[in-house]
Amino acid sequence: MDAEHTHTRPRPVSVPLGATVTSTGPTAQLGAIRSTGGPRPADPQRPGPQREPGAVRVTGAPTEGGLQDRFGRVATDLRVSVIDKCNLRCTYCMPADGMPWLPQTQLMSADEIRRIVRVAVHSLGAEELRITGGEPLVRKDLEHVIAGIRADNPDLPIALTTNAVGLDRRAQALKDAGLSRLNVSLDTLHPETFAELTRRPHLDKVLAGLQAARAAGLGPIKINAVLLRGINDTEVVPLVDWAVSNGFEMRFIEDMPLDGDRSWSATNVIPARDIRAAIEETFTLSADPRGRGAAPAERWEVRRHGETALAGHVGIISSVTEPFCAACSRTRVTADGRIRSCLFSHEETDLLTALRDGADDEGLAQIWRDAMWAKPRAHGSDRVGLARPDFVQPERTMSAIGG
Ligand code: GTP
Ligand code: 5AD
Ligand code: SF4
Repeated sequence: MDAEHTHTRPRPVSVPLGATVTSTGPTAQLGAIRSTGGPRPADPQRPGPQREPGAVRVTGAPTEGGLQDRFGRVATDLRVSVIDKCNLRCTYCMPADGMPWLPQTQLMSADEIRRIVRVAVHSLGAEELRITGGEPLVRKDLEHVIAGIRADNPDLPIALTTNAVGLDRRAQALKDAGLSRLNVSLDTLHPETFAELTRRPHLDKVLAGLQAARAAGLGPIKINAVLLRGINDTEVVPLVDWAVSNGFEMRFIEDMPLDGDRSWSATNVIPARDIRAAIEETFTLSADPRGRGAAPAERWEVRRHGETALAGHVGIISSVTEPFCAACSRTRVTADGRIRSCLFSHEETDLLTALRDGADDEGLAQIWRDAMWAKPRAHGSDRVGLARPDFVQPERTMSAIGG
């Protein structure tokens, strides 16, 4: 049946769906991201968009329930970026001089983040939250952000992806605020390689942060390493060895075309199969019996050759050579409050302006449902593949999107 004919009664559509505007301000400096705005209730005293139970929008998007898309996926995994700034300059992510940062007024405040998470959890069925950046620790009020979210959502798993610089001083406070666990980006164990790769000499700070996180009970801790040919690709086994010896889960990530320098090349990607082969020279890998679900990482049990005892786990995130978009359960909000239905989206939906204009929870939820209904099949389009010739890198880079 045609989506429009599923209405029991004809219903006016108040705002043209998918209305496209060009963003202004600093995001435009990043390269004019197209932004779609959903319906915006102008008067906060009035209820959100009118709808009937079970009705669908003219696009086919649902008007109740969770974040469904046109391909049968449901997003329950919420990733919220709290800041675009970072204190490192990883070559696969940022240019040496950084990016044009968002002005403070465009960043979501702690209360705005809290409200958006509450809508996602209470109205849209989000089951877990990951806080990303930029570097989330650059926000001085991160503990306050987390405490607010925790107060509204006592059982919500809240994870953080961080580079751990400065974490040694804040790990306990983050735990006390309600943080459940964290993933730490660490690509190398060599100080010189670290300095070359991140353009900052902070390996010691990262290691101190990890120690403090473990002491604070912020586990399980996962280590993310993006492998780069000729830079850290000889460190696969040392990283696994170090991680399992310290009780961390080691994860290797294929380099994705989201860098600020726009110098990504498919030929430089270390493919997942080569990563597995490198690990297997020293360890035995067996598929994690718990399976993968919707997670980006394919998880493996690790044993040292000739031993039956489990040494630990590794994960491999193979966005380029073994895409996992078909099972994607993720929805993203940028630090300036825009919904991105996919990491590689070319369109964003401005949720923060609607919130600031007084939209009620149901109004915000509907904007989000509409945005996620339009989620592309894979990699920002309806065609799969980051290395395909017609792939177009999104305007925003990884740090501006939030991982
Ligand atoms: P866990 O829940 O601990 O497994 O975390 P995670 O792997 O979902 O999150 P993390 O922030 O540690 O991300 C690890 C890598 O996976 C980063 O490079 C992310 O950009 C990448 N990643 C996360 N979600 C997606 C996604 O939807 N698509 C793609 N292609 N990569 C993703
Ligand atoms: N490709 C793959 N992963 C990346 N990350 C940052 N930039 C890239 C990229 N171009 C990783 C970081 C961090 C996570 C959020 O994303 O290492 O762990
Ligand atoms: Fe900062 Fe993370 Fe980007 Fe590195 S990958 S520059 S730590 S945001």
